[in-house]
Amino acid sequence: MTVTSRTRVGIVGAGPAGLMLSVLLARRGIESVIVESRTREYCEARQRAGMLEAGTVAALRAAGVGKRLDAEGLEHDGIYLQFAGERQHVNFRELVGRTVTIYAQTEIVKDLIADRLAAGGVIEFSASSVAVSGIESAAPVLSYTDSAGVPHEVACDVIAGCDGFHGIARALVPGLSAYERTYPYAWLGILADAGPSTDELIYSRHPDGFALYSMRSPEVSRLYLQVPADESLDAWSDDRIWAELQKRFALPGWSVATGQITDKSITPMRSFVAGPMRHGRLFLAGDAAHIVPPCGAKGLNLAVGDAIVMASALSALLLDGSATLADAYSDTCLRRAWRATQFSYFMTSMTHVLPNDPFDDLAQLAQLRYVTSSPAAATSLAENYSGYESPKFES
Ligand code: FAD
Ligand code: PHB
Repeated sequence: MTVTSRTRVGIVGAGPAGLMLSVLLARRGIESVIVESRTREYCEARQRAGMLEAGTVAALRAAGVGKRLDAEGLEHDGIYLQFAGERQHVNFRELVGRTVTIYAQTEIVKDLIADRLAAGGVIEFSASSVAVSGIESAAPVLSYTDSAGVPHEVACDVIAGCDGFHGIARALVPGLSAYERTYPYAWLGILADAGPSTDELIYSRHPDGFALYSMRSPEVSRLYLQVPADESLDAWSDDRIWAELQKRFALPGWSVATGQITDKSITPMRSFVAGPMRHGRLFLAGDAAHIVPPCGAKGLNLAVGDAIVMASALSALLLDGSATLADAYSDTCLRRAWRATQFSYFMTSMTHVLPNDPFDDLAQLAQLRYVTSSPAAATSLAENYSGYESPKFES
């Protein structure tokens, strides 16, 4: 027997976009139900982003989920860019008066899930056969089968597709336009029990490929290596990874602190933007509508930004009967998504090495010298990296 129920907003996906949306709606007194295909443990352990824009930090605080972020987040004034044997600092605080913060996506997801569950919010983990219908009517339906095999139908006012790049929601938008760029490289990422030997992130362009030195805490480092797009993890022993990292970050008198590798994965690189991000009563947010290559750290920040814009649009629609913000939702989000898409493309193209392309090598070095010597160019990088036109959540 199908169990029927009702909520105001049905949310597909318990990633940063869906969880943040549910928290923000709750702050405005709007009930929601989240349906997630994975287990809670899986969602809380999935290794992904780590760098938060100033606006994302402010929004998490304003939403009342900033306590652990304030205690454990690592605030950085800027980043280092390394190339041609030099390591140069770009100071965002001095250039644009903003900082960025390292706080892992795993921790944000844990904080948001804990907040929802403590307030009696519903998150159906391990759901299967998730489907959405009736988005052109005023009463769309979110249906799924729960972990015990019981089918459910939830009658909603609105459905939010926050189900990531491989989700079901995007395909429900008729006449969707998608724009895509793939790159001939991927990132091999590791998590290691090693205290970082740098105070801030290092983006290093080396003739053998890009490397990024990031971190999760004073005890844990997160490091990435550019590898060919079709690379297999089997080709990378721990010893080979450390040797390659030491080479790509090498500076006289300095080395990468090594330790036990606890996680290893390869992520393909892609830019993808699809719109419109709304059709009828279905609204898309985050990776469901757009993904960026990770260089420049925009994906999670965009997902949180979409959730903020959607929460305002849905509260105007559902509480005040005003469709103005809902009608502007797609354009508002796509404008910001395209800015972040262009910036991620710029950061990726400036630092990742193409085989046998001496023109590109010299153009990259010219660009790196420019952004580290011209205050105008450095300011543009700082403004984009630390978050340009971040939407605000007013509590
Ligand atoms: P997701 O996190 O993908 O969440 C979608 C959820 O929907 C998932 O839980 C999924 O299980 C669920 N789902 C999917 N299909 C269904 C279905 N049919 N039914 C129900 N549930 C479903 N971004 C940054 O801003 N800064 C960084 O430093 C950064 N670094 C990154 C490093 C790496 C290696 C990677 C891979 C990504 C990085 N990103 C970064 C990007 C960031 O992780 C993503 O943009 C972010 O996770 C998007 O959040 P989301 O909620 O839109 O989607
Ligand atoms: C990360 O910490 O995972 C990270 C940081 C900055 C990036 C990408 C990833 O540009």
